[in-house]
Amino acid sequence: MEWNPEDYSKNSSAQLVWARELIARLALRGDEALMDVGCGDGKISAEFAHALPRGQVLGIDADPGFIAFAREHYPAGAHPNLRFERMDARRIAADREYDVVFSNAALHWVDNQPAFLAGCAGALKPGGRLVASCGGTGNAAGILLVLCELVRQPRWQAYFTGFQSPFFFQSPENYAAWLRDAGFSPSRLELVAKDMTHPGRAGLAGWIRTTWMPWTACVPASLREEFTGEVVEAYLRHQPLDGQGWSHVRMVRLEIEARRG
Ligand SMILES: C[S@@+](CC[C@H](N)C(=O)[O-])C[C@H]1O[C@@H](n2cnc3c(N)ncnc32)[C@H](O)[C@@H]1O
Repeated sequence: MEWNPEDYSKNSSAQLVWARELIARLALRGDEALMDVGCGDGKISAEFAHALPRGQVLGIDADPGFIAFAREHYPAGAHPNLRFERMDARRIAADREYDVVFSNAALHWVDNQPAFLAGCAGALKPGGRLVASCGGTGNAAGILLVLCELVRQPRWQAYFTGFQSPFFFQSPENYAAWLRDAGFSPSRLELVAKDMTHPGRAGLAGWIRTTWMPWTACVPASLREEFTGEVVEAYLRHQPLDGQGWSHVRMVRLEIEARRG
């Protein structure tokens, strides 16, 4: 399974909107050190670098292609307070103490939240904040239902033998326990429903192509466009485009705010 950073950066405006909502809640002073976990193409880390003129930002991501893309698009010369490092969220090795660990639309890809939280606690100053949003219980249920139906069809079945979803959509209850075990005091753990919109069929296809690769990567490259098209058409039969031609997907985010004790 491979990410396509260029395509992702053009098809992730909803993720950027969600990130900006969280950034507003952070009420930054401008001098904090912040780590952005699962930074992807780096555009959100770059927004932080702009908001923290006297601070430092480190974007980390497990995917080397994303790190290369982020370094190329937000070079150190133009962004002296911004760096990107390849690092797995389950093995955070911090180079300094951070005031904030932030993560948007990434933690539901991580199969071991206690390992992430242990590294996160190690990276934060005492009293430092973890602010994150990821897929929560019930996230994208309409898309998952369509995928579940599609992969059982004779046309696609053979490509999905033994397939398991790599997404971990977490509940506030599980997360509260993991946070306390890792030495955090949670102040907000909330499932928040979001109406994710995409401009028409092409926009919905762009999102499926760039974020649902665990499924699309199972089919041969020559059939991916056809498979993606079938996901789009099947989804739109359940949830048609609105009068202005936008598709709507009900997303559920788990929003996490906690302080290291
Ligand atoms: C949907 S993208 C989100 C990117 C960005 N935060 C945003 O909101 O646009 C998910 C990101 O999580 C990263 N990721 C997944 N598992 C990871 C892990 N174990 N450690 C670090 N990054 C991971 C992926 O490589 C990808 O860049």
